[in-house]
Order: sequence, then structure tokens, then C-alpha cells
Amino acid sequence: MEIKNVAVLGSGTMGHGIAQASAMAGYNVKLYDIAQAMLDKATGTIKGNIEKHFVAKGKIKPEEGAAIVGRIAATTNLKSAVEDADLVIEAIPENMEMKKIVFAEIDGFCPAHTILASNTSVLPVTAIAGATNRKEKCIGLHFFNPAVVMKLVEVIKPIGVADETVDAALAFCKKLGKTPVTVKDVPGFIVNRLLGLLYHEAAQIVLEGTATAEEVDLAMKLGAGHPMGPCELADFGGFDIITNAGDAVYNYTHNARDAVNILYRKMVEAGRLGRKNGKGFYDYNSDGTKTVAKLFD
Ligand SMILES: NC(=O)c1ccc[n+]([C@@H]2O[C@H](COP(=O)([O-])OP(=O)(O)OC[C@H]3O[C@@H](n4cnc5c(N)ncnc54)[C@H](O)[C@@H]3O)[C@@H](O)[C@H]2O)c1
Repeated sequence: MEIKNVAVLGSGTMGHGIAQASAMAGYNVKLYDIAQAMLDKATGTIKGNIEKHFVAKGKIKPEEGAAIVGRIAATTNLKSAVEDADLVIEAIPENMEMKKIVFAEIDGFCPAHTILASNTSVLPVTAIAGATNRKEKCIGLHFFNPAVVMKLVEVIKPIGVADETVDAALAFCKKLGKTPVTVKDVPGFIVNRLLGLLYHEAAQIVLEGTATAEEVDLAMKLGAGHPMGPCELADFGGFDIITNAGDAVYNYTHNARDAVNILYRKMVEAGRLGRKNGKGFYDYNSDGTKTVAKLFD
């Protein structure tokens, strides 16, 4: 099955990046959001990114940049966004009920051949697919932030997915220049399952005073070859996201090893969300430097 038209639902952090990556690979993209302001922001960001990172650096010609932007149509009308889509990629907030409602709705609007994908970070794709009458055409496509840059896509196989759906999803990822890795529909898939453990232990080391965040990061960068330390990575991911994702995994597994470290809850309670508001394991200063934050000292 050839994919030509892609609909991306949700134009936030992930949706706008997935839309840009899809348009850059030549797909016609409809970008849908309930909020016109988010669509305006997303299209402005996409235009700016293409100009700054591709046209200005001579990687593509200005007319190619314009053609990429021209392939993305923004809309607040769900039916018109998905009615001619071959592939829908949902990137709305990480909330099971919201995702089920949207999947049930688009199941009624899309042609029979359309593949419905969720970009969920940790929620069970099998349960999301259960809201539709096309379980064989539902799949997880887990992109990473920033979606245009990050090479990995976890292709999550819910129970009941057809082989041809998986094959079409893999081909789509490769056309985007990504490297897909298939994984069964288990909580956290591969990356977030492992990162959850790393985040937990990194916070525990800081909490018990064994080492500072900076020492943890240095140790893992220089000793384990990680490009970013776990505290830096947690700051980048955001403590609200880490807490919600960890809770979603724990609620599913009830396995003590999946419990979110209390330090993340305390930091969220204290309004420390990570890089996004300049306060995480580190304080991010206006001059671009960062200093280790005083937490429980
Ligand atoms: N941010 C990340 O690093 C990251 C990485 C991988 C996967 N994800 C997953 O991607 C999904 C989206 O995350 P995000 O960080 O882009 O969120 P976000 O909050 O940045 O964007 C969500 C967008 O969805 C819109 N929205 C809300 N309800 C909607 C609806 N019913 N229909 C259409 N649009 C709606 C919002 O207006 C917003 O623009 C989540 O499932 C998240 O777990 C996020």
C-alpha cells in the first residue's frame, strides 16, 4: 500500500516536527489541531526551521523550502484533515481517554485502507486501537523529540496488527530517513522503559547525596559514553512528562522498579519542570550557562 497523504493530529512539540519531517520526505500533510493558535505557532516554527536549518545553510534551495511548506495544510476540521489520508499520526496529549475518543472519531471519517498511528510515549497502543473497528490497521509510531532530527522511530505492534500495516509503517519511517525499530506493545516500549530506570537511579543518587547532578552526568558521559548525562536528559525531557509517563507505566505494571522517584514529584511541586522553564537539576542562566541547582540542601 502506497502512502501519499499523511494527517498529523496535534500540532504541538511532536506534531509540528512529524509534519515537517513528513513534508520534507515528499508527503502531502494535513496538520490538525483543536487550537488555531497552536496551528499558527506550528506553521511559523516549521517555516523558521526550514529557513534557518536548511535553506540558509545551503542544504536545500529556497524554492524547495517553499515547496515543503506548501505541502503542509493546517486545519481545525478533523474530518477534512483525515478523509483522504493514507496514514494518520496522532500526537495529541498523553491521555488515554482523549486518544480513544479521537481514534473512534477518525475511524468513522477515514477510508477503509487508512493506517491509524499513535505517537504515544507509554500508553498501550492495543487499548487505543480498541476504540476502532480496524485493529489490524492500528500501530504505534513513537518519534523522539525533536522529531525532525532524532533518527529513531519505535514501531509498536499492538495485538491484532496486520503484517502489511507494519511493513507500510516501516517503509514510511525509512522514507523519512529514520531508523525504525519494531517492538511489542509493552509499557514504555524500549527507550522509555530503560530511561525510566536510569532517571530513577540518577535522581536517587542526587537525593541521597551520593553525588551531585553534575557528577552523575560527567560519570555517565565519560564512563558510559552517553552523549548527555541522565540529569541533563531528564531536564530536557521535562519532569512533568517524566512523572506522567512513569506513572502510566507503573499503573500498568505495578512493578516497584517502575515507580517514579520522589525527587521528580518534589521538583514538579516546586515548579521545577526542567529546561522548559529553566529550572531542573540545573538552573539555566540567561547567558547560556548552567549551574547545579540547590534542591534539598
Ligand atoms: N514531547 C516529547 O518529548 C514527546 C516525545 C515522544 C512522544 N510524545 C508523545 O506525543 C504526544 C504529543 O506530545 P507533545 O509533547 O507534542 O504535546 P503538546 O502538548 O506539545 O501538543 C499537543 C497538541 O495537541 C493539541 N490537542 C489537544 N487536544 C487535541 C485534540 N483532541 N485533537 C487535536 N489536537 C489536540 C494541543 O492543542 C497541542 O497543540 C503525546 O502522546 C506524548 O506522550 C512526546
